[in-house]
Amino acid sequence: MLTKAPRGTKDILPAEVPQWRFFEEKAREACRLFGYSEIRIPMFEHTELFLRGVGEVTDIVAKEMYTFTDKGGRSLTLRPEGTASVARAYLEHKMQGEAQPVKVFYTGPMFRYDRPQAGRYRQFHQFGVEAFGSQEPALDAEVVMLALFFLQSLGLDKLTLHLNSVGCPECRSRYRESLRAALRGKVKELCPDCGERYEKNPLRILDCKNERCQAVTKEAPLLADELCNGCREHFAAVRAALDALGVAYVLNPRLVRGLDYYTKTAFEIMAPGLGAQSSICGGGRYDHLVATIGGPDIPGIGFAIGIERVLLALAAAGSGGAEAAAPDVFVATAGVTPAEALPYVMELRKAGLAAEMDFLNRSLKAQLKLADKKGIRYVVLLGEAELQAGQATVKDMQSGMQEAVSLGGLCAYLAERLKEEN
Ligand code: HAM
Repeated sequence: MLTKAPRGTKDILPAEVPQWRFFEEKAREACRLFGYSEIRIPMFEHTELFLRGVGEVTDIVAKEMYTFTDKGGRSLTLRPEGTASVARAYLEHKMQGEAQPVKVFYTGPMFRYDRPQAGRYRQFHQFGVEAFGSQEPALDAEVVMLALFFLQSLGLDKLTLHLNSVGCPECRSRYRESLRAALRGKVKELCPDCGERYEKNPLRILDCKNERCQAVTKEAPLLADELCNGCREHFAAVRAALDALGVAYVLNPRLVRGLDYYTKTAFEIMAPGLGAQSSICGGGRYDHLVATIGGPDIPGIGFAIGIERVLLALAAAGSGGAEAAAPDVFVATAGVTPAEALPYVMELRKAGLAAEMDFLNRSLKAQLKLADKKGIRYVVLLGEAELQAGQATVKDMQSGMQEAVSLGGLCAYLAERLKEEN
């Protein structure tokens, strides 16, 4: 127990961090180009926010939340997603008073008590964006473009965009009735989960992965055919905007998404090589979320990308990815104690050089081997006699060349050599 992280969580080890930073830097860059500013939201919220925002009958809320009571008796929940929190922050900080649309992005861990498997974790990380205050279909297209632009900037190209409209509360409630009517005699043939969904949330039956359920719904009516005029026009405008941008997409009338707040545009982006967890991005419009959590009726749209899944997709695509930069200098000693060497190492660091030294009293040979293993280009050799003479020897590990340098000029010498290298 003590030597194992909780099921569904993962350490991100130093060797993996450069890949994460690569992801984060590209995400920041894409958001800068598209005009999305960073927001940092709390890791937990009042449970009620997710009950109302995400919806009580969703799997996320009904089965997957990490909910606890704090010492003050409040019911709190580790955030299973970011959209409800950002909508709460938008309202709390009266962002409706700012120039609309308000466009923000976030990255960080989310928590869902789901059955762990490859690409599915209990603590996972998302990069998400949200834009509030505009119904404009071109904004839907911009949000989709941001997701694609970013994923392509990472080097992912074999992406598939699935697109649908899930309508508004009016056309959806009419459709829910026609779907129930079509499935009425067949409820027994559905999987147990869909049996429950029939009453509570029949739309989710459409995207059940169970083959029996798929067979039962094969002939069922589709929401795309029953959209009201407003939703149909909006969806046509979103598609026209994407067509004008030359974006390929699959119209997927079964795409309903697992969160209740969606209205109109819904989309997912799939990447190859991920098995069952091929969805790396999910998003859509949520024109009544802000109202649902107690604010005015302000529209919004956004998406979230699963960072672990994207990194898996990059690995599957054979992208070796980023590596950590090696330190600049290793200070090796002979006849000089680590405590005596440390002030010189500090001088190098203060001059902006990443400098390392030995703390295990290794032989000089072992120190050189260590420096080589770490990929360090320059070694500063500090010997007892040299120190007394105010000198050090700098060894270029690549060429093997050695040069005596005065201690006073060491930082400038190394800085110059490193500059030449870059
Ligand atoms: P979601 O589809 O639940 O949407 O999650 C978005 C992405 O997070 C998924 O496509 C997947 O890549 C990743 N993800 C979800 N669950 C897990 C898990 N258990 N393990 C690993 N990765 C996972 C949302 O969360 C919405 N808030 C997206 C959104 C933002 N819609 C509008 N704005």
